[in-house]
Amino acid sequence: MKRLHSQAANHGQNQAARRVGASRRDFLRTTGMAAAIGMGGLSLARAVHAAGEDPILEIALIGCGGRGTGAAANAMDADPRTRLTAMADAFEDRLNSSLAALKEKYPDRVDVTPETSFVGLDAYVKAIQSDVDVVLLCEPPHFRPIHLRAAVEAGKHIFCEKPVAVDAPGYRSVLESTEMAQQKGLSLVSGLCWRYHNATRETVKRIQDGAIGDIVTIQETYNTGHIGGRPRDPELTEMQFQIRNWYCFTWLSGDHNVEQHIHSLDKALWVMHDEPPAAAWGLGGRQVRTEMPRFGNIYDHHAVCYEYANRVRVYSYCRQQANCWNDTTDHVFGTKGLGVILNEFRVEGPEKWQYQGENTNMYVAEHQALFQSIRSGQPINNGVYMARSTMMAIMGRMATYTGERITWEQATQSEENLSPSSYEWNATPPIVPDAEGRYPVAMPGITKFV
Ligand SMILES: NC(=O)c1ccc[n+]([C@@H]2O[C@H](COP(=O)([O-])OP(=O)(O)OC[C@H]3O[C@@H](n4cnc5c(N)ncnc54)[C@H](O)[C@@H]3O)[C@@H](O)[C@H]2O)c1
Repeated sequence: MKRLHSQAANHGQNQAARRVGASRRDFLRTTGMAAAIGMGGLSLARAVHAAGEDPILEIALIGCGGRGTGAAANAMDADPRTRLTAMADAFEDRLNSSLAALKEKYPDRVDVTPETSFVGLDAYVKAIQSDVDVVLLCEPPHFRPIHLRAAVEAGKHIFCEKPVAVDAPGYRSVLESTEMAQQKGLSLVSGLCWRYHNATRETVKRIQDGAIGDIVTIQETYNTGHIGGRPRDPELTEMQFQIRNWYCFTWLSGDHNVEQHIHSLDKALWVMHDEPPAAAWGLGGRQVRTEMPRFGNIYDHHAVCYEYANRVRVYSYCRQQANCWNDTTDHVFGTKGLGVILNEFRVEGPEKWQYQGENTNMYVAEHQALFQSIRSGQPINNGVYMARSTMMAIMGRMATYTGERITWEQATQSEENLSPSSYEWNATPPIVPDAEGRYPVAMPGITKFV
């Protein structure tokens, strides 16, 4: 049984929540078991619906920044019978500001108390182990494989933001967790939100169904201005500074071609029926974002050619430099025409087509799918594609950092591990600044593939 909010105003509602608590546990045990053994979760869930006992599902948020706060709101908008009951963040101020914003918007559905607010690098364990049904993983990408494993081991359903790893050991771990989630009948929904966007789904389906003939080339762009770059606060340890400024450190974000451009690469992977490319080579560097330590060690541009075994090429470009021409689009060229996914959702081929349907909020849609899957006892598992598109992006970074042509096999078997030796505020991060405060930046032709 959950601890309940102390405010008198919420007393009646919490009594109601308490009453459904027993059926909630029974429901989840029953549908989870049925789904795991593959025999009739749906009918059991329907029986619960029929009895009018749709249980309250309780949520823990891990990583209470911009996206985490948004994801918690999306989850509550997606399913009226959900409550946020636990939160975890590395930093107390981030948790507090997120909690205040969510409480203001959902005063009766946020029941996070000091006992269920967890701060620090081990906060995720406590949030996962609290009596919740669903965990939202919205922390920086480095931590995702570890937190995902803990959530699956604890038997929680999961919403998992992108990207899901920063290195190949993380990718392999996510695949293992994906398999484990499958065996346990848990839902694992990815934050690769375009997969839940109506117009994108319909455009990709038409391309896959042959509307532009056979695919020849895909062009993916994510060219924007600067992102990230917090000044150093002398009060912080090096580990605290880097985690505060996670976007700018490869070991935490994966670099921007992984953290951001993954949305584009995931669409290319999707169009290619989730088959990974055979190899990648590319160019990249750090031309204008040179201010240290503010911009850590990530590049400011990457251009990668992904080669498929059937000769399809994916040309991918991402740039974060101010005052340049910006473009974020996906163009798919086929033997009979062109498909434009973002932002036009159209196909030019033997038949012209443009998406005319309704467009729902993809950020809410992914949570609707998650909660419906839990309630129906029919788990969703997006683990394989979220791991593959992450690995595709990591492979591109391996190519731009080293200047080498890297095969999928090499990339996925890489032993490069970007983890620190321990997760403590006084521990040494995987990279440290030199005497002048400069971080080592990868150099093509010098940096080696590991
Ligand atoms: N799907 C999308 O469209 C989308 C959009 C934005 C961000 N994202 C993803 O969401 C994730 C978070 O991005 P954001 O923009 O919210 O960043 P953010 O910096 O606003 O939030 C990250 C939060 O995680 C906390 N944190 C850091 N280390 C932690 C740890 N070990 N345990 C718990 N909390 C920790 C930080 O203190 C911070 O509050 C990233 O992976 C990002 O790629 C996805």
